[in-house]
Amino acid sequence: MNHSNARIDDANRRLQERLMHVSRLAAVGEMAAGVAHELNQPLAAVANYAQACERLLGMPDADLEEVRDALRQITAQAVRAGDIISRLRGLTRARESLGELTDVNALILELADLLESDARLHESACRFELADGLAPLTLDRAQIQQVIFTLVRNAFEALDERPLGAREVVVATARAADGDVLIEVRDNGPGISPEIAQRLFDPFCTTKTAGTGLGLASSRTIARAHGGTLEHRPNTPDGACFLLRLPPPARR
Ligand SMILES: Nc1ncnc2c1ncn2[C@@H]1O[C@H](COP(=O)(O)OP(=O)(O)O)[C@@H](O)[C@H]1O
Ligand SMILES: [Mg+2]
Repeated sequence: MNHSNARIDDANRRLQERLMHVSRLAAVGEMAAGVAHELNQPLAAVANYAQACERLLGMPDADLEEVRDALRQITAQAVRAGDIISRLRGLTRARESLGELTDVNALILELADLLESDARLHESACRFELADGLAPLTLDRAQIQQVIFTLVRNAFEALDERPLGAREVVVATARAADGDVLIEVRDNGPGISPEIAQRLFDPFCTTKTAGTGLGLASSRTIARAHGGTLEHRPNTPDGACFLLRLPPPARR
């Protein structure tokens, strides 16, 4: 390579770095606006219910059951606000430890009770197809469990629109040809709606009235922090399939 080519390359690289910086700043601004918007709703609801409590208690024959209802709403909305914040933290937190050597199948089976009770709640079936011979991975157990839980929860929510009896979520593991561990969560629901297919993993992208749109975004952040990937692909014959790919320590 001659000198002028090297100079152009250098200038290009600097330009690209500046663009990256600008787009990161834009993403932060967008995110702050999104957070403000998301938190506004539960906070406004808390204020409303608190006012209602005060008004109810000011009445001579206050109905305590009504007050209790309003207080329950306040709790629920506060939990929702907290949930938004803790998911955001998952989105931005620098990785401190990706610590423990872990058998992925065991990690999934630890979640089985929780997933199965969620399945009952959504009148859906949950099946496990766990492969032998997976490499042990060093990972943050709680974070990877959170990803799996998010994917399965999304699947159940998508299946709510399907008739009873036909609803099924499968959590499968497999060994990729290159030794990576694959974790797949697939359902036979309606699949990803085409309007959001391009933005699926963007923060605050949601089609649900009470959704945060942070589940997939934070899950992908966690996957990448582990040197892995999280992708969507259509399931056959129908539904959605999310593929989490995690490399063993030697390939990280
Ligand atoms: N298994 C699935 N089937 C169909 N759509 C899905 C599935 N998983 C996610 N989605 C779509 O992706 C959107 C974003 O998901 P997510 O980031 O978890 O946020 P939320 O669940 O709060 O909406 C959902 O609102 C939904 O439209
Ligand atoms: Mg979700």
